[in-house]
Amino acid sequence: MKSHILITGATGNVGTEVVRELQRKGIPFRVGAYDTAKAATQLKTAGDIVLFDFLDPGTYSSAFEGIEHVFLVRPPALSNVERDIAPAIQAAGKAGVKHIVFLSIQGVENNRVVPHYKIEQAIFNAGIQYTFLRASFFMQNLSTTHASEIRDQDEIALPVGNARTSFIDVRDIAAVAVCALTDAGHANQSYTLTGAEALNYDEVAAKLSAKLGRLIRYTHPSMLNFIWRQLKAGQTLPYTLVMTALYTITRLGNASIVTTDTQQILGREPIRFDQFALDYRQSWERQAAIPG
Ligand SMILES: NC(=O)c1ccc[n+]([C@@H]2O[C@H](COP(=O)([O-])OP(=O)(O)OC[C@H]3O[C@@H](n4cnc5c(N)ncnc54)[C@H](OP(=O)(O)O)[C@@H]3O)[C@@H](O)[C@H]2O)c1
Repeated sequence: MKSHILITGATGNVGTEVVRELQRKGIPFRVGAYDTAKAATQLKTAGDIVLFDFLDPGTYSSAFEGIEHVFLVRPPALSNVERDIAPAIQAAGKAGVKHIVFLSIQGVENNRVVPHYKIEQAIFNAGIQYTFLRASFFMQNLSTTHASEIRDQDEIALPVGNARTSFIDVRDIAAVAVCALTDAGHANQSYTLTGAEALNYDEVAAKLSAKLGRLIRYTHPSMLNFIWRQLKAGQTLPYTLVMTALYTITRLGNASIVTTDTQQILGREPIRFDQFALDYRQSWERQAAIPG
């Protein structure tokens, strides 16, 4: 069967789960991958994988040919929307793409500084139908970006004080994305996707401690201490500044809003943090020492 759906970011946190959900449902799709060999290995599919690089317009036509719906992920390294992302959106429109499901960010409607705002505008201006998935912080940030800190030092060191975050599991975002890509009624809609509860990091640490059987502490670092630690750990200054900006939003309480959009679209409760911690506990377990 011909695929009318193109998945970008398919090797990333959310895209991997979108692919898994489409495979589970037996829905054909095409992957537009930056590294096609990596995508084929990681996604365990010999299916329709084509080269797609936001920074190489020569890859656009074969990626978009015959496609009606696109799942669009902005790679975190690409922040110059006019130069790096908008050309692909315009090419999609010219190639006949009817609908883009874009992985956006919670609160984007009040935050013109983040690249996601300009991407939403670019989709709108290209005259393509849209579904904006404005997601809250991923639970999986703790099993990827912050995993080593938890695994090796038993601590979470984020500069957000006692503020709460309405964490969402990327598997729920992917399930919503597949609904938006395949079901009627999601064109020209914006959804704010959160989990069912907003937790502070003391609660997150307590939940991880309970699942792992060892004490995980939330260390309440200051912003300056956080920046110093990130740079000392070898992170670049631009990356550290983006992280600091995002966690400032959280510290101000703006990541705590809980919505019912996820539940309404999926017809079930969003995945709880306890379930996520159980499913991903290997991310924080220490390897047993190998006898010499
Ligand atoms: N983390 C959060 O809490 C959160 C919350 C809301 C929204 N978001 C947004 O979600 C997006 C990231 O989603 P994610 O975490 O699922 O992605 P991710 O894991 O960071 O993966 C990025 C994907 O983009 C691909 N890619 C990199 N450079 C590319 C290029 N030049 N052309 C085409 N593809 C390229 C990567 O391919 P390779 O694997 O080959 O490198 C990978 O598949 C960001 O825009 C972020 O702001 C994040």
